[in-house]
Amino acid sequence: MGKYICVWKEKEVAVIQLNRPKVLNALNRPMVDEIVEKLEYFDRDETVRVIIITGNERAFAAGADIDEMANDNPITLEKLNQFAVWDRIALIKKPIICAVNGYALGGGFELALNGDIIFAAENAVFGFPEVNIGVMPGAGGTQRLTKVIGKVKALEYIWLGEPMSAKEAYQYGIVNRLVAPELVFEEAMKFAQRLAKQPPLSLRLIKEAVNKAVDSSLVDGLQLERKNFYLLFASKDQKEGMQAFAEKRKPNFTGE
Ligand code: CAA
Repeated sequence: MGKYICVWKEKEVAVIQLNRPKVLNALNRPMVDEIVEKLEYFDRDETVRVIIITGNERAFAAGADIDEMANDNPITLEKLNQFAVWDRIALIKKPIICAVNGYALGGGFELALNGDIIFAAENAVFGFPEVNIGVMPGAGGTQRLTKVIGKVKALEYIWLGEPMSAKEAYQYGIVNRLVAPELVFEEAMKFAQRLAKQPPLSLRLIKEAVNKAVDSSLVDGLQLERKNFYLLFASKDQKEGMQAFAEKRKPNFTGE
């Protein structure tokens, strides 16, 4: 039990429950520190194979704590380096499942996007409302949302700050499973227990490899694309394809 979170274990699954219900689990700085410290603790604990992060029925988390940062300025923020702690979540090797009921807004959405798998209530609400308070996402939202749903839709949501329904989030591939609100935690736990029976080393190396795919930069991606484009000019099929085009006939590709 921390000041702002509760933790427990169910067999080989560890649970971190955000626990500031009066402010819809608004994430103040000490709370984020507690979450990250516990994630790292469970990542080292050999009796734990999967980690669930959850909130309560009203909110996963309604964002960073607005009261805490209302009087910040660029210098206080730079000195605090408040978002550096978030980078440590990406280093957690074990699977993280987020079980989301209610609001997952701003930093709450960013926390969910930092996990690996999201189980959400059918009536959960995601979104980046920061623009409505004159700022923008600061804990990875512009990057992580864009990588999942693409530039045009990410811009629309982050520019307008409008809520994204759980159904939309499911359609965009953000959410793995839509579940009746009262079953979200139970279903996430069932999934976690299934994962806990898989070979742990495979899971961690798969997570690392899949994250690598997501993380390649556009520059790296473009270079690979270009190299592969050039390489295809070594194939007979390229000659055949372009010749057939010139001769206005169907190509006959042989795979050479
Ligand atoms: N920070 C601080 N307090 C918050 C909060 C937040 N992000 N979200 C909600 N609360 C508090 C409210 O101030 C209220 O406290 P009081 O009872 O003391 O007044 C309590 O939680 C309950 O909230 P509401 O009465 O507003 O509940 P509601 O059901 O009417 O509305 C809501 C719910 C739509 C989520 C609304 O609370 C809201 O808009 N919250 C702010 C959402 C937001 O802007 N999040 C982004 C924060 S910035 C950020 O996250 C930056 C980043 O990238 C890290």
